[in-house]
Amino acid sequence: MFTLPLMDPASREAYDGMHGYDDIRTAPRALATEAVHAGRDDLARQGLHAPPIDLSTTYPSHDSRGEAARIDAFAATGAEPDGPPVYGRLGNPTVARFETALARLEGTEAAVAFASGMAALSAVLLVRASMGLRHVVAVRPLYGCSDHLLTAGLLGSEVTWTDPAGIAEALRPDTGLVMVESPANPTLAEVDLRAVAHACGSVPLLADNTFATPVLQRPAEQGARLVLHSATKYLGGHGDVMAGVVACDEELAGGLRQIRFATGGVLHPLAGYLLLRGLSTLPVRVRAASATAAELAGRLAADPRVARVHYPRIGGAMIAFEIQGDPHEVIAGVRLITPAVSLGSVDTLIQHPASISHRIVGEDDRRGAGVSDRLLRMSVGLEDVEDLWADLDRALGRPEGARGRIDMRLRRGARPATANPQRPAAPQSLRRFRPDPHSVLRRNQ
Ligand SMILES: Cc1ncc(COP(=O)(O)O)c(C=O)c1O
Repeated sequence: MFTLPLMDPASREAYDGMHGYDDIRTAPRALATEAVHAGRDDLARQGLHAPPIDLSTTYPSHDSRGEAARIDAFAATGAEPDGPPVYGRLGNPTVARFETALARLEGTEAAVAFASGMAALSAVLLVRASMGLRHVVAVRPLYGCSDHLLTAGLLGSEVTWTDPAGIAEALRPDTGLVMVESPANPTLAEVDLRAVAHACGSVPLLADNTFATPVLQRPAEQGARLVLHSATKYLGGHGDVMAGVVACDEELAGGLRQIRFATGGVLHPLAGYLLLRGLSTLPVRVRAASATAAELAGRLAADPRVARVHYPRIGGAMIAFEIQGDPHEVIAGVRLITPAVSLGSVDTLIQHPASISHRIVGEDDRRGAGVSDRLLRMSVGLEDVEDLWADLDRALGRPEGARGRIDMRLRRGARPATANPQRPAAPQSLRRFRPDPHSVLRRNQ
């Protein structure tokens, strides 16, 4: 097969101009198009269809003077070195494709990928601390390990926990970061990102967008300067990649690349490849799973065995619900649904946050953040809604006496999904129920 050799920048520019590739790259494209094409724009001119996986850890060069200059330039700004790669910890072409694509989806100048979501958050904290800005203002709940990293001060940071209304007051001269998750793990509480970004003033806002994904929300458009993902979740989408990524402007990205180079939390190229592949189906997966989740949220809200349902205003494939009975029995009872921590996979996962994802958060802090011991968190996948409901219905078991508090308001005319809670209602009547996402938002006050 004939393939064009890798081109130097000058001949690539000429080639692109000649063949009209410049127009394609710079024209605005819809999210679904970006998801499939971003990070792959050079493939056709190389005669390739699937992106190549570059597993090299190092790259030969006879020009050590040139290498010295490129390393000096990287040390000064953190900008990606021009020309061929130098060493795997400094950058990898396959990972760079994923970074380019994610930045396009989030609408930022750049993105920097890491070995996990926690490695990504660590790099953000370290880059701010290296500037003498160790203080972090954060809103609970956050993912349990993010909470722990801040509370324990493992990286030398100091945290002030507050609610969104208290952010401006909590800022100090040494505040380097404000951090929120929206929808938050595990309660799905949402914050008004635009208002929060305004309250931050000149302090960068980091929004963890793991649950929403750029399909439902692009925090950078609302003023967040750093958008973090546990790419382990929806971006990968198949439960087989561990990764993290921060989308941000080029200035912050430079600092993050320098921290990544110095501390080594790099993403493996194979993971970069799988993430790029995951992105291409992200909009389709998120929309399909969200439709199923909205349906299940409605059925759960109308079920007497469920005390409360949390489902975000912006929609999504995550549901949190508090049950009347023993949550451990539900975890023990599911058969189709996978009883496992994590989320964002093609299969549906359920877990008990007080036992797993938020176990590491102190009991009082956990409860104060709205994470009740009866709360279950479910990540809805791509299975058929009736099969999922049948499994949940069985796992929820017998109702415990009287009907509990149903916080999720039903639309006028909608009937509870199950007349007899032991038996699912006829699918036809169930399908008529659609929760109004605006009526089911639960905030942690
Ligand atoms: C919202 C959120 N942020 C960050 C993380 C950490 O990501 P990782 O497990 O990829 O390190 C998680 C993990 O569950 C998460 O749910």
